[in-house]
Amino acid sequence: MEYSIGVDIGGTKVAIALVSAEGEVIEKSIIPTDLSIKPFEMIKRIIAKVEVILHNSPLSIVDLKGIGIGAPGPLDSKLGVITCPPNLRNWVNIPIVEQIKNHFLIPVLLENDANAAALAEKRFGAGKENSNFAYVTISTGIGAGFIVDNQILSGSYGNAGEIGHTVIDPSFGKCSCGQYGCLEFIASGTAIAKKGSEIAGVVLSTKQVFDLYKEGHPKITPFIETVFRTLGVACVSIINSFDPEKIVIGGGVSKVGTPLFDALTDYVSKFALSPAGRETKIVPAELNQNAGVVGAASLCF
Ligand code: BGC
Ligand code: NA
Ligand code: ZN
Repeated sequence: MEYSIGVDIGGTKVAIALVSAEGEVIEKSIIPTDLSIKPFEMIKRIIAKVEVILHNSPLSIVDLKGIGIGAPGPLDSKLGVITCPPNLRNWVNIPIVEQIKNHFLIPVLLENDANAAALAEKRFGAGKENSNFAYVTISTGIGAGFIVDNQILSGSYGNAGEIGHTVIDPSFGKCSCGQYGCLEFIASGTAIAKKGSEIAGVVLSTKQVFDLYKEGHPKITPFIETVFRTLGVACVSIINSFDPEKIVIGGGVSKVGTPLFDALTDYVSKFALSPAGRETKIVPAELNQNAGVVGAASLCF
């Protein structure tokens, strides 16, 4: 059996896991992402956690195929550098691969977090049977990974699938990336909680906003309908651009379940161009919690 370490860096937490080539998570730890400290300090914490995980397992560093890292973009997967992710504000031009490789002296790979999760869904989850599908994560940010002919589509630098920052309507206000009216600014989990709270006049979590929606709250309901419609526009663009067999949706917002999947399916059935495209299945991710680390780890297999 082969093993590797998967590191999933997010805006609020970093998940680190020892994963088998079969996609089984043997051990996993979470550390909070502290954006008030230097990225190099965070990397030291990540390295220390990897050491602890190895120490607690019967494996040692020589048994590992490598360390795979998933991180929000933009990044340069070839150079192994995190460039300037809007949701990891102070991580500007961080050569994370070099730093981790210098410590462990084994292969270290970097990939966009959504691309890594798409790979995990391809190998072990909702995309097992599919050669062409899109994975979309709707969480703190919105990102996508496209599996094209069984491979992840990377693009020139590893930034293919940055759909969260497609501009939907500049009048919506300023996104954390600096542009105006991005999909992520309108429809991410963060955006839903923020705007929902504004509308309701109390501080709400994303889940609480959805609870009010399900109860038919007179102002939250039309707001969430706009959110779903905006995500529907994104799905139609994905279908028209990539002709996928299905779209797999993960991330915290996918937990709202049926209303989201029904709304997207309905939108796609009306607005996708090709007759086949209009029948594209929109399905929930299967790996969820572990997609990030399993995908990152599987970069090494
Ligand atoms: C980033 C993407 C990432 C997504 C989810 C977006 O803000 O631009 O690269 O996949 O968030 O983390
Ligand atoms: Na991507
Ligand atoms: Zn943006």
